[in-house]
Amino acid sequence: MKDEGNNVFSVFDEIIGREEKEAFLKQRAKVVWMTGLSGSGKTTLAKYLERRLMQAGYFSKLLDGDNVRSGLNKGLGFSEEDRTENIRRIAEVSKLFVDGGVICINCFVSPTEAIRAQAKAIIGDDLFLEVFIDTPLEVCESRDVKGLYNKARAGEIKDFTGISAPFEAPSAPEIAIQTADKTIEEAGEELFKALLPFITLEA
Ligand code: ADX
Repeated sequence: MKDEGNNVFSVFDEIIGREEKEAFLKQRAKVVWMTGLSGSGKTTLAKYLERRLMQAGYFSKLLDGDNVRSGLNKGLGFSEEDRTENIRRIAEVSKLFVDGGVICINCFVSPTEAIRAQAKAIIGDDLFLEVFIDTPLEVCESRDVKGLYNKARAGEIKDFTGISAPFEAPSAPEIAIQTADKTIEEAGEELFKALLPFITLEA
């Protein structure tokens, strides 16, 4: 395409920016970074949140181990190095989603302050929202939805978060949700309501 002065415009100069996308979608884009132990309820609550947001007119995308570790991050394990690379790639992908105005809901153990700080640095302070799914280890272990705690205790899985690898609870998350004595609906509504002020576009 050429203008009157015969300057050539590249399509890449015309990528629509986040603010315009946010105005179109009538929402503020955020990466909702959910951290917590395996079995804490991250993905369960994220699924609830995704549907609840859609009902309320918000556009989001959920990322979790199932759709990321089986494809993009296939081949990465659970050593500190692999987890760091796992989270780095996820943060880069999330950044692309928020650039497009999307609310990106991420469910990853992301067990250390350093790993989450890396994600925050990639995504940007103002777009990164840390959500701690605060479920005690005993509760996660008693739920043992995937049978992994049993195997970790038996020594069949090494470097298992909470058993043989560290989990550092976030010191100042924007949102913290305790799940132990709540139904999915109760905890999910709490999360939805706490999130609203961060994603509402001021008129
Ligand atoms: S992270 O530490 O790199 O953020 P991620 O969230 O992608 O972890 O994956 C965690 C999920 O992988 C757990 O919910 C569990 O189902 C499974 N998993 C398998 N091995 C491990 C392990 N050693 N430590 C933690 N989770 C594991």
